[in-house]
Amino acid sequence: MIVSVLSPKGGCGKSTATLTLASVFSNNEDLSVAVVDADPRQSIARVWLGKRQSENLGAPPFKVISDPSDGTILDTLEDAGETNDLVFVDLEGVAGLMASYAASASDLCIIPMRPSALDGDAAGAALKMIRDAGRAARRTVPARILITQTDAAIVTKSHKELLAELDGAGVERLQTELMRRAPFERVMAEGRTLFELQESQSVASAIRNTAQLGKELADILESQ
Ligand SMILES: Nc1ncnc2c1ncn2[C@@H]1O[C@H](COP(=O)(O)OP(=O)(O)O)[C@@H](O)[C@H]1O
Ligand SMILES: [Mg+2]
Repeated sequence: MIVSVLSPKGGCGKSTATLTLASVFSNNEDLSVAVVDADPRQSIARVWLGKRQSENLGAPPFKVISDPSDGTILDTLEDAGETNDLVFVDLEGVAGLMASYAASASDLCIIPMRPSALDGDAAGAALKMIRDAGRAARRTVPARILITQTDAAIVTKSHKELLAELDGAGVERLQTELMRRAPFERVMAEGRTLFELQESQSVASAIRNTAQLGKELADILESQ
C-alpha cells in the first residue's frame, strides 16, 4: 500500500504526519514500513535522519528512501510498494509531475491542513490535483483531509465552521485530528520517533492521538 501525504502549503504538517504515521505502523512487527522522502527540502531524509545520526540514535524503525526526482519517482514507488507492506510518501507542492505521479501511484492520499482559510485553499488545490491524476490514470484515487495542529484546549468557532464546511461540501476527512502538541514538534527537532521521546504526560497524549489516527487509517486501507 502506498499512502502519499501532500499539500502545496508549507508548514501544514506533512513531514510530521508522515513520520508519525510511519512510526506508529512500524510498532507492528509484522509490517514492513518505508518512508519515501520526495520533498526537495528533504526534511526527513536529510534533516531528521541527519539529526538521528549525529545523536547516534541508530537505524529508524522504518526504511527511509530519498528520491526527490520526477524522473525516477515512479520506479522508486513501484519498488518500495513491492518490498514493503506500507509506504508513506512525503511530498511538497502539487504543481509538478512529482505530485501527480505519486498521487496516481497511491492507494490513498492524505492532505494535512491546519484549520485556516489559507490551508483550506491549498487543500482544495491538492484535492483537484489528486482527482486529475486519477482521471489521467483512469481510476479514482481516494483522498482524505487530515486536520492538523488542532488546539488541544479549545475548539474555536472558525475550526467548527471549517469542519461544517468540509462536511457540507462532501469532502472526506479523517475524523481523528492531529493535535498541536510539543512532542510532535520534538520528533523533527530531535531526530526521534514519538515512541523514542522521553516519557511524559504530553508524550503519552501524543501517542494516544497517533494510535487513534493509525487505527482509523488502517480501517480505511483495509476496507479498500
Ligand atoms: N501536530 C503538531 N504539533 C506541534 N507542532 C507541529 C505539529 N505538526 C507540525 N508541527 C510543527 O510545525 C512545523 C511544520 O511542520 P512540518 O511537518 O515540517 O510541515 P510541512 O512538512 O507540511 O512543511 C514544524 O516545526 C513541526 O515541528
Ligand atoms: Mg515537509
